[in-house]
Amino acid sequence: MEQQIKALQIEATEKFAAANSLEQLNDFKVQYLGKKGSLTSILRGMGNLSAEERPRMGQLVNDVRKVLEDLFETVSAKLSQQELENRLSSEKIDITLPGRVNKIGHIHPINLTMRRIKDVFLKMGFSIYEGPEVESDYYNFEALNLPKDHPARDMQDSFYITPEFLLRTHTSPMQARTMEVNSKENKPIRMIAPGKVYRRDYDATHSPMFHQVEGLVVGEDISLADLKGTLELFLKEIFSEDVKVRLRPSFFPFTEPSAEVDISCVICKGAGCRVCKSSGWLEILGSGMVHPRVLEMSGYDSSKVSGFAFGMGVERIAMLLYGIDDLRLFFENDLRFIRQFALRGIK
Ligand code: DAH
Repeated sequence: MEQQIKALQIEATEKFAAANSLEQLNDFKVQYLGKKGSLTSILRGMGNLSAEERPRMGQLVNDVRKVLEDLFETVSAKLSQQELENRLSSEKIDITLPGRVNKIGHIHPINLTMRRIKDVFLKMGFSIYEGPEVESDYYNFEALNLPKDHPARDMQDSFYITPEFLLRTHTSPMQARTMEVNSKENKPIRMIAPGKVYRRDYDATHSPMFHQVEGLVVGEDISLADLKGTLELFLKEIFSEDVKVRLRPSFFPFTEPSAEVDISCVICKGAGCRVCKSSGWLEILGSGMVHPRVLEMSGYDSSKVSGFAFGMGVERIAMLLYGIDDLRLFFENDLRFIRQFALRGIK
């Protein structure tokens, strides 16, 4: 038996020393020192030994176990270290490799223009309201004094979803919506409503989706002079201090009187060019004093308050600001176009 134990010790020592992974080393441990391992099965045979031999063999088995366990620990520590080193070198990061540069996006010229418009009105104390793009016939037309037979309600020009709902054709429904929530206490209003609007049109100056900014001021003694002063200040802030502003009589069903607002041509400074069709003036906004019937329909007492309203096309303003001659460029997502409006450059 003694021979057997010694042979086992030699064999196990060789195996342990030759193990080339922790996993293999553990397998060997189980094989030799485990509950069902070789050493245990030798111990089981001790019953056949004489009473003098038994303690000696017992001692020998324990000694061998101790030696093998120590060896296991040593080899195990060595293999762990080796595996750690292997991992470290295989996962090494080469910090000298060139980095990947993140592509920085640009703000779309329409959004840049929107921001500029909002900034000017915020500085003048206006609030910003937003409303639904799928709008009811009532807010889009009816509440704005556009009767059922008005040409603007033509099915050819609007995207109807049902006979009752359509994609809003302008931001003016926000006038009625804002007045409705403020009129109960005859509260004053000073707001703009920016957003998308939809019409069935597509060419170099028309897009089926475009942007407008609506404006509305309601309160006691609001006059045409307030309208003119506000819009003049706004237009000078957006374009330049030396821009000239004129009001031209016009017609909108929801305002009375109504005025078209023109500015002196920003391209030729009023001398006459292709953009202003040699007139020296550019049409920039629709505006007017809120029609008393519109005030009444939204719940205001038109003998106590008055108001003015205006609406402008954002694409048109962006085209003039940045010298863009085809509206379709805004919606084609050609990066060569969009990239010209980097934050650092044009503001
Ligand atoms: N809603 C008009 C349009 O889309 C623009 C407009 C004109 C808005 C006069 C107004 C206004 O608020 O007073 O053509």
